[in-house]
Amino acid sequence: MARSQHYILLAVAVAAMALALLASPVAAEKSFNITKILAAHPEFSKFNAMLSKTRLANDINRRQTITVLAVDNAAMAGLDQYSLPTVRHILSLHVLVDYYGAKKLRGLSNGATASASMFQATGAAGGMSGYVNITSHKGGKIDFVSQDADDTTTPSRYVKSIKELPYDIAVLQVSSVLSSSEAEAPVPPPAPVDLVELLSKKYCKSFAELVAGNADVFQALNETKDNGLTLFCPVDAAVAAFAPKYKNLTAKAKTAILLYHAVPDYFSVQLLKSNNGMVSTLATTSYVKKDYSFDVKNDDEDVTLATKVVTSTITATVGDSEPLAVYAVSKFLQPKELFKVVQAPAPAPEPSKKKGKTGDADDESSSDDSDDSTADKGAAAPAVFGRWATVAATVGAALALLA
Ligand SMILES: *[C@@H]1O[C@H](CO)[C@@H](O)[C@H](O)[C@H]1NC(C)=O
Ligand SMILES: *[C@@H]1O[C@H](CO)[C@@H](O)[C@H](O)[C@H]1NC(C)=O
Ligand SMILES: *[C@@H]1O[C@H](CO)[C@@H](O)[C@H](O)[C@H]1NC(C)=O
Ligand SMILES: *[C@@H]1O[C@H](CO)[C@@H](O)[C@H](O)[C@H]1NC(C)=O
Repeated sequence: MARSQHYILLAVAVAAMALALLASPVAAEKSFNITKILAAHPEFSKFNAMLSKTRLANDINRRQTITVLAVDNAAMAGLDQYSLPTVRHILSLHVLVDYYGAKKLRGLSNGATASASMFQATGAAGGMSGYVNITSHKGGKIDFVSQDADDTTTPSRYVKSIKELPYDIAVLQVSSVLSSSEAEAPVPPPAPVDLVELLSKKYCKSFAELVAGNADVFQALNETKDNGLTLFCPVDAAVAAFAPKYKNLTAKAKTAILLYHAVPDYFSVQLLKSNNGMVSTLATTSYVKKDYSFDVKNDDEDVTLATKVVTSTITATVGDSEPLAVYAVSKFLQPKELFKVVQAPAPAPEPSKKKGKTGDADDESSSDDSDDSTADKGAAAPAVFGRWATVAATVGAALALLA
């Protein structure tokens, strides 16, 4: 081969790799799944199962910067005596709303700090009880104790780092469940809610009739409402406008489309406004092979639900009392599984976003000023170094041709 051809080859290789780097910006995707992280560690299976059962797993995954203090299966036995809502309070104290990698813990200035926990952040805790004191002792021992603990309380001790993705999530093992009288207090059961009555009260009388008239749908909603449910009910005018199409659907499709209006998770208005992304519905869980999801988007103050067939807007709150929220929406939601997709005019390509991960977080992760541990780097760096290694190898190979 002529030398000039070698140079062309080299140029092409370098250009291709540069393009590859541009096309997949490092750390554009920030997402984690606490259930998945802990699934790799069976000694935390009880803790993991409880995070899911109490819906804390969803709350954790939506956060951008968080530390989870996990306890092993033996230590979880201490929670057996509590009801599920109380367990939720106790475990939410184990979710610190800041990032504490192992190295950061060891380097605490003055050897101590206090961190707000999700127990504090949700407003369930009074006073300072939702804060956790962290103390780094000489000799390397690190203690965690709830601020409302008394002097006789044995602190929970740092055992090891389970997983660190700086500065998104750190999962650490601690020796025991954190003790807090406030978190351990009995939680009054949610007031019984008559769903049909709630829907009928305002805006959604017609939708209430559809739900009441379908035993499968009613049962699915009623079973989900105490464990996290957000229902989007089309206003009466929307149901009337959709009635001709609805009548045409098979019985199975009618059930699917009603369930499509229910998301098996609790979303406050604030959560809806601060989060973008696809949500699964009760239709997803009932018709496993199909998607039945839609996209929740914020447009200034408005929250819209985009199905690819219609875009519906939230017009009012019918009821909002955790774990159940009901919002009136302007249009009947039509899933792409049942109706023809309306092509949007040339959508701008957008990097895939996970629910709960909004843009501003990306700044932190790409910065290289890691004052955190080597474990931090170990977790996040391979993708970066891997890609540069490929560039280096390709350039190297091209250069070898020149020799
Ligand atoms: C998280 O991971 C678990 C287990 O792999 C999976 O069942 C669940 O659907 C995942 N959640 C999300 C939001 O991706
Ligand atoms: C937590 O830290 C604060 C401030 O350092 C201190 O006043 C308080 O006594 C500590 N609480 C516990 C339970 O250690
Ligand atoms: C709805 O669920 C509640 C429990 O949350 C139950 O007590 C009630 O009987 C159910 N209603 C119907 C009509 O099935
Ligand atoms: C209902 O189905 C019939 C027969 O398939 C069709 O002609 C009609 O246009 C449909 N009506 C609506 C509103 O989709």
